Amino acid sequence: MTTAYRIAVLAGDGIGPEITEVTLNVLRAIAPRFNLDFEFVPALIGGCAIDAVGEPLPAATLETCRQSDAVLLAAIGGTKWDTLPRPLRPETGLLKLRAGLGLFANLRPAKILPQLINASSLKPEVVAGVDLMVVRELTGGIYFGQPRGIFTTESGDARGVNTMAYTAAEVDRIGRVAFETARKRQRKLCSVDKANVLEVSQLWRDRLTALSAEYPDVELTHLYVDNAAMQLVRSPKQFDTIVTGNLFGDILSDIAAMLTGSIGMLPSASLGASGPAVFEPVHGSAPDIAGQDKANPLAMVLSAAMMLRYGLNQPAAATAIEQATLAVLEQGYRTSDLMTEGCILVGCQAMGEQLIAQLTL
Ligand code: IPM
Ligand code: MG
Repeated sequence: MTTAYRIAVLAGDGIGPEITEVTLNVLRAIAPRFNLDFEFVPALIGGCAIDAVGEPLPAATLETCRQSDAVLLAAIGGTKWDTLPRPLRPETGLLKLRAGLGLFANLRPAKILPQLINASSLKPEVVAGVDLMVVRELTGGIYFGQPRGIFTTESGDARGVNTMAYTAAEVDRIGRVAFETARKRQRKLCSVDKANVLEVSQLWRDRLTALSAEYPDVELTHLYVDNAAMQLVRSPKQFDTIVTGNLFGDILSDIAAMLTGSIGMLPSASLGASGPAVFEPVHGSAPDIAGQDKANPLAMVLSAAMMLRYGLNQPAAATAIEQATLAVLEQGYRTSDLMTEGCILVGCQAMGEQLIAQLTL
């Protein structure tokens, strides 16, 4: 029996199309082995959508995503679109996709692979064994709070405003995802806030503390965000699962990513209460290397593995992709972002071919 899936594919901008091509080829290669049948439906988002139809998230794209089993997204953005008014920027398309699909929970794992330990900018003894998960709230907080805008004061001065706000219900639902995630890991959850200064953080902390009564098997701790940033580079091994709001999560997940040496290795999943989830690399569109066959496709390939595991409930196929990735690294193949002495430098396409060779052994 073959299981058929409809996957919305949003290749986006910059290196997006090249890493997408590799990822789809990897999925095509494993499909027969696990009796899967993928229908890939391409759709526009970001700068390419602005160029084609004048808006970063066309209604047709959101509809395609809603009618799919999962969404695979590469990356969006580029300097070409940076000076457009905010509603027309590529980033706005991504934020609208998150809001439109109700993707309030963003899971960003950061795991050190022994093969890549020398690619980290931190000392090997500091990062060896790091295996953590950032659970970032994705549809609330200062990214979406009202009021927002640039206003004029009575004295005629310009005043930029954003609002960091969370309701108890919003904190509880991301809190539950975080406790459940920690439960499947080492049962340690660290909640990150700025409760020493911000009321919104005090509410966050109070709700997390209250929720922890329902999860007695998970150890809950709290850190202020400045301390958390410091601890992440000082001794990252203390962390298992981290839960935090939208803005703090944006920043801390980049730090966590860099512990592993290359942001080019890290996948992510954005989940809602129901409906299709979005799987995408943590990295951006890297316009500086776009179209040169230099991009590292592994974060997107690993995002496809997350899609199989968390979105389509096909854990065996997910594991096959993850193992192939490790095997290829073990054999010494590296894209330029990961290159160290003694390894074999390959481009984006060749990395894909090595992965497929592994998967079809
Ligand atoms: C991310 C990105 C986005 C964010 C941008 C591109 C809007 O930095 O996914 O982390 O800030 O959420
Ligand atoms: Mg970010």
